Amino acid sequence: MPRQILVTAALPYANGHIHIGHLVEYIQTDIWVRFQKLRGHRCIFVCADDTHGTAIMIRARREGRSEEAVIADMREAHMRDFAGFQIQFDNYGSTNSPDNKEACHQIWAAITKAGLVKTRSVEQLFDPVAGTFLADRFVRGTCPRCTAADQPGDNCSVCGAAYTPADLRDPRSILSNAVPELRSADHLFIELEQLRPFLEDWSQNGGHLQSEVARYLKGNFLGDPLRDWDISRPAPYFGFEIPDHPGNYWYVWFDAPIGYIGSTREWCRQHSEHVEAWWGRDSAAEIHHFIGKDITYFHTLFWPGMLHTAGLNLPSKVHVHGFLTVDGEKMSKSKGTFLMASTWLRHLPPGALRYYYSTKLGPGLDDIDLNVEEFVARVNTDLVNKVVNLASRCAGFLAGQTLADTYPDDGGLFAAGAARGDAIAAFYEDCNYNAATREIMALADRANKYVDDLQPWVIRKDPARSAELRDVCSVTLNLFRQIVVYLSPVLPGLAQQTAELLNQPITSWDEAARPLTGTLVSPFQHLMKRLEMKQVQAMVEESRQENAAEQSAAATPVAQSATPVGPAFHPADRWQDAGDALKNEPLAAECTIDDFTKVDLRVARVLEANHVEGANKLLQLTLSLGGGEVRNVFAGIKAAYKPEDLVGRLVICVANLKPRQMKFGLSQGMICASGAGGTEVFLLSPDTGAVPGHRVH
Ligand code: 2FM
Ligand code: ZN
Repeated sequence: MPRQILVTAALPYANGHIHIGHLVEYIQTDIWVRFQKLRGHRCIFVCADDTHGTAIMIRARREGRSEEAVIADMREAHMRDFAGFQIQFDNYGSTNSPDNKEACHQIWAAITKAGLVKTRSVEQLFDPVAGTFLADRFVRGTCPRCTAADQPGDNCSVCGAAYTPADLRDPRSILSNAVPELRSADHLFIELEQLRPFLEDWSQNGGHLQSEVARYLKGNFLGDPLRDWDISRPAPYFGFEIPDHPGNYWYVWFDAPIGYIGSTREWCRQHSEHVEAWWGRDSAAEIHHFIGKDITYFHTLFWPGMLHTAGLNLPSKVHVHGFLTVDGEKMSKSKGTFLMASTWLRHLPPGALRYYYSTKLGPGLDDIDLNVEEFVARVNTDLVNKVVNLASRCAGFLAGQTLADTYPDDGGLFAAGAARGDAIAAFYEDCNYNAATREIMALADRANKYVDDLQPWVIRKDPARSAELRDVCSVTLNLFRQIVVYLSPVLPGLAQQTAELLNQPITSWDEAARPLTGTLVSPFQHLMKRLEMKQVQAMVEESRQENAAEQSAAATPVAQSATPVGPAFHPADRWQDAGDALKNEPLAAECTIDDFTKVDLRVARVLEANHVEGANKLLQLTLSLGGGEVRNVFAGIKAAYKPEDLVGRLVICVANLKPRQMKFGLSQGMICASGAGGTEVFLLSPDTGAVPGHRVH
């Protein structure tokens, strides 16, 4: 009996590009959807861009354009990346759509009517220059615990302390550098505790959650009263205005999950269906959400609570997955492993990543590791050597002819493969792609043994054995196709190529149980190339360079950005910096990142500082780079600094400058300073937290 299934993946934020960490989820979900469709179920996959919130508003101001323009550009980029990785949505909407707004109004009315909403005054930091309340990450200051400077508003990156932005010492707004003010504003809260009986039952019974997720909720949230949820933000905020609270907007996390309904509404309008057929309480549709473990709370407590209150269909299952690491570490911009989808596609085929992730993904929440050497070996061994090789060893011998009219005797191989269909399907259903691919590769091993034993390349040499050759190749190509049917949710590209090779589309899982007979074999085209480690290395290097360029651009605070800012604030009015310094020393000729990285700038500590006999301008400095590595440097700073004031302080030095023999001794580097010279010299020093030996990027 065909099931009716609505599938969602988390809505990506519209202020950033898709990277390979995101792709774990979109690939996992796309495979599941393709599998369900192949099994003959009625399944739709909806997603959307998550467009609201402060970050988009600030970005739009920084870029001097509207939020809608920012969203439109990012949508195009997201859709291009998804298409590149063969992720096929039935509808890709936006949380900033009229459909979503209507769904938000409907749910809000129900929540209000149920008496779950209350108003409470909240104190929050406000940027008087930018004219906006500040989300935690828009405030930086000194850690109240360890006094590390320049820490974010929620927790300290040096000592790990968690606090609120109001606890920071010397807080500054990163938007304008202004000192924020503590202001209070009314916020709207949802009293989740009122929904406890429902949430306890839904989360702990009925198999809606993986068992570890159910346990996590019980152990971490359900044991105590559920905290009220702050779901409004005062203006200015980019989002939907709350109908009965003018000047207040729904917090981005309120309207984001409702975006699943908004996107379904769009699909329904295009397909003349009613949204109630999917989201109505009496609907027969199953709803499956795929999410990362970081957003479990929203999807397993808050979201079912809203749906329940609004009398809507509840998720049948929330499938939670772990994070991605690369070579055992967090994705790193400086190492080039923070790989964007578009960068990947410039170097490597999408199918390789889809397959590799499948071999790693199980039904649980374990993090998965992209080990680049294993990745290359796995794709080459499994797909090139085992699967595609079956076709390449036989298809050429039958090109332009037809497969045998009756399926030949293969010793029961095809039937044995067909008999594994239910087990493989159960693995897909359970998101245990790792087990599914292992089963499928075992079939490929058996098929390769058949070819090795029968040796069609030997049979071919004897014209009297042409019927035998046709039979052996017909069997091999059918075993190959059976494997491709099973792999087709993972490798839709290979399924399409196989359909063209054997002139028969792959449209149903059952085709793995029916051998093809009598169909024409097309001329053989290469199906897949071996991967080379150097392709991966080139990709990582390109990514490293892209990230370095991006980071130096992002280092410019919004207030100092060269691009115009929006009407709400004009930080330039606060600092009327004169242009003399630039006029006296015009900018140097452009250089590349490579030029810049040749200069190895390091944090160093001044161990000793002394006058130099016979030198009017120089001080002799002994600098430590840590670990016993020292440099002797003569610096022309005598008129500006006393030696005793320098000892112990951190400076920035050029650590790889060719040593220069001077009259007073060997100088092994330079320290960095600005200013015109003489008494006008200003040494550069790093923020608190930097240590000798840190490279300056
Ligand atoms: O964490 C995120 O990337 C969010 N944009 C996910 C939203 S999922 C859903 F609730 F919309
Ligand atoms: Zn700290």
